[in-house]
Amino acid sequence: MPDLSVNFAGIKSPNPFWLASAPPTNSGYQVMKAFEAGWGGAVWKTLGVPIVNVSSRYGSVNYRDSRMIGFNNIELITDRPLKDNLKEIEEVKKYFPEHAVITSLMVESRKEWHQIVKDAENAGADGHELNFGCPHGMCERGMGSAVGQEPEVLKIIVGWVKEVATKPVIVKLTPNISDITEPAIAAKQGGADAISLINTIQSIVGVDLDNFVPYPVVDGNSTNGGYCGPAVKPIALNMVKNCAQHPEVSLPVSGIGGIENWRDAVEYILLGAATVQVCTAVMHYGFGIIREIIPGFESYMTSKGFKSVSDMTGRALPNVTNWENLNLDYKIIAEINKDKCIGCQLCYIACEDGAHQAIGVGQNGTRVPFIIEENCVGCNLCSLVCPVENCITMVRKDDGKKIESWKDRTKSGRIPTTFNDPLAGGIHHKVPEPQKALKSK
Ligand SMILES: Cc1cc2nc3c(=O)[nH]c(=O)nc-3n(C[C@H](O)[C@H](O)[C@H](O)COP(=O)(O)O)c2cc1C
Ligand code: SF4
Ligand code: SF4
Repeated sequence: MPDLSVNFAGIKSPNPFWLASAPPTNSGYQVMKAFEAGWGGAVWKTLGVPIVNVSSRYGSVNYRDSRMIGFNNIELITDRPLKDNLKEIEEVKKYFPEHAVITSLMVESRKEWHQIVKDAENAGADGHELNFGCPHGMCERGMGSAVGQEPEVLKIIVGWVKEVATKPVIVKLTPNISDITEPAIAAKQGGADAISLINTIQSIVGVDLDNFVPYPVVDGNSTNGGYCGPAVKPIALNMVKNCAQHPEVSLPVSGIGGIENWRDAVEYILLGAATVQVCTAVMHYGFGIIREIIPGFESYMTSKGFKSVSDMTGRALPNVTNWENLNLDYKIIAEINKDKCIGCQLCYIACEDGAHQAIGVGQNGTRVPFIIEENCVGCNLCSLVCPVENCITMVRKDDGKKIESWKDRTKSGRIPTTFNDPLAGGIHHKVPEPQKALKSK
């Protein structure tokens, strides 16, 4: 049986699956229920001077039959008094001493930071997560993402926390920045023990077309919110990878954003996360999703021979490189399995109008399309739009003997440098005459 337990920058947890700081960690009742269901840790709903929330406060992007593929909120940190939260943290730790309870914190002055860190530690917190990510409301008051977007300020505040913290300090980063590694490096320089990412992405999820107000509507007005859920996973994965690969960051990473199932969790870990955190999926389906995540994750580990989570962490990183290092001589083209094809011709129209006119139709009196090999550039759009699993596969055509990257070509002076350069990559691609597009001609 693989070992799921983790030691994340000194915070021990029976497994790497934590609840992110959000409504599911608003109270001791919820956190205890989650731990009983199988979650290994919880980052408490951000503590600070309690706020007053608005209603409504959530918005959603529904896509076709799927609800909440993207989720948006304009809520702030905890609206409960600090003493109530601390009392419940203490109680949770009494029942679950082996589980990780991390306090998420957001205050303003050095004095307040010192006080809240001490209070949280007295209540039994195993670590602290500094919320430098909230992209609405709190940032207007100089906190949350207002700090996450200013690496120098972030570094100073981490320093304040480290003056008094005896437990590990995680810095939670905002994705609302052009280069995520800048605040990550500042966190390291400030003395952080780890980073977590991402917090929510600034967003507007839609507009009420009758009343001309974006969602969520608060008495006829709205404001930008923070976007999360499955839609943000690709953005978060890239940021996790950027931090995990950067030599000056070199901190344990807790990956957050759109995690719903064991596969999502594995992807984060392969790209450098040591733990993962979940919010929207729990808000959508409840704590019970952990009952699918744990066995799925364990059987993946077993199938790959991983003995521990740390064995897996970052295993995909050596395979992520800059574009300039990719092999330009690797050539694949599409192949259609005629036995599987249902003749929908989605691949034809995608390639015809949106790619390289490399799919033909109308052969042999059937609706099954065919690939025009000399036009196919191997972009794989057709295989992505095809609704039948493994009906279009990409087949290798080069012999694998020649490997040359853009970097190699630059070194040997074989890159296009003029507008009409004979070295242009598309020079031998077949493109139909423009007039052929006109049905009347
Ligand atoms: C309603 C709501 C409230 C949130 N509140 C907090 C918070 O108080 N502190 C914090 O650090 N992050 C907060 N977050 C952000 C989440 O912790 C998490 O970073 C984000 O939702 C991405 O994860 P997900 O895609 O699993 O939801 C909140 C998210 C939502 C949806
Ligand atoms: S999209 Fe797939 S199923 Fe549809 S015609 Fe093309 S190959 Fe056949
Ligand atoms: S791989 Fe790209 S170019 Fe080739 S057939 Fe498919 S869509 Fe067209």
